[in-house]
Amino acid sequence: MPELKIELTKNPKPKPTDETKLGFGHVFTDHMFVMDYETGKGWYNPRIVPHGPIQLDPAAMVLHYGQEIFEGLKAYRTPSGKIQLFRPWDNFKRMNISNERLVIPPIDEEFALQCLVKLIEIEKDWVPHTDGASLYIRPFIFACDPYLGVRPGDKYMFMIILSPSGAYYSTGLNPVGIRVESKYVRAVKGGMGFAKTGGNYASSLIGQHEAHKENYAQVLWLDGVEKKYIEEVGSMNIFFVIGDEVVTPELQGSILDGITRRSAIQLCRSWGLKVSERRISIDEIADAYKNGSLKEVFGTGTAAVISPVGHLKWDDMVMEINNNKIGEISQRLYDTLTGIQYGKLPDEFGWTMEVK
Ligand code: COI
Repeated sequence: MPELKIELTKNPKPKPTDETKLGFGHVFTDHMFVMDYETGKGWYNPRIVPHGPIQLDPAAMVLHYGQEIFEGLKAYRTPSGKIQLFRPWDNFKRMNISNERLVIPPIDEEFALQCLVKLIEIEKDWVPHTDGASLYIRPFIFACDPYLGVRPGDKYMFMIILSPSGAYYSTGLNPVGIRVESKYVRAVKGGMGFAKTGGNYASSLIGQHEAHKENYAQVLWLDGVEKKYIEEVGSMNIFFVIGDEVVTPELQGSILDGITRRSAIQLCRSWGLKVSERRISIDEIADAYKNGSLKEVFGTGTAAVISPVGHLKWDDMVMEINNNKIGEISQRLYDTLTGIQYGKLPDEFGWTMEVK
């Protein structure tokens, strides 16, 4: 295992004074993790250095062909002041799944986690103390060789940056409005939809841009072939409560295998609820709405946590869900999940990892 070098900043920044106003992804801590890769040499020179701009050749391959992947996880402060991570091993495992799809060399998951833990130990004072706020962790890898031909890179950088953050949506736990996208598609089977790579998010921007014009926060994507079956929101996976069934689209290659999605399924099943991972058409949702059996809609994601959906717009139809109020299951999931994440409830599933 290469030795992790540490260079501490001589100019630490002041910490945010009002943690209720952090927003998401605006503020960055004092240090970041960096490691390089070169074909024939492997991953080398892991280091923690002051957070700041990096030098990149304008021909760096990532800037032209988008060969990059990323992850998102959080560190939480518990009532006793300790810091814990939520299922971090799952993020590094998924990182390698994304790496494989993007032909990026795999990382040593255990070593990456050790480096993250060290980084958080150094930045421990940046982990917010306020309910609902946490330290968002963004690991990412990109091809950096200067070359304009299309091929996988020979040089990569793996970095981790940290951002003390509050709720992803400015509405917090209040229900969001979502517009079903009927024109554009995000991903298709055989494409990169299951990988956490910037290209999926780039392809979703136009839908989001158009949804914003109509005052909807996000886009619900339909399948790329028939534009009929529900996929995901892009920043989160999606769940429906129809009658007494909790339903979410099955993982079939074009949607993200969300870690919060997995946790929500496990929690619901542990409460004896019927959870189905299956194909759901938008017509089924519209029918359930019309006959009164659509009780709740919510999204799940690391950044979004559990995010209730209050309005779902599909072409000319606007469905108001649960009177635009958070539903019983969404609220229970939010309370239980954040209870475990913030160390306020027992972690019966072994999901948390303490950082000193
Ligand atoms: C996350 O939930 O961590 C994500 O990566 C989604 C991103 C759009 C913020």
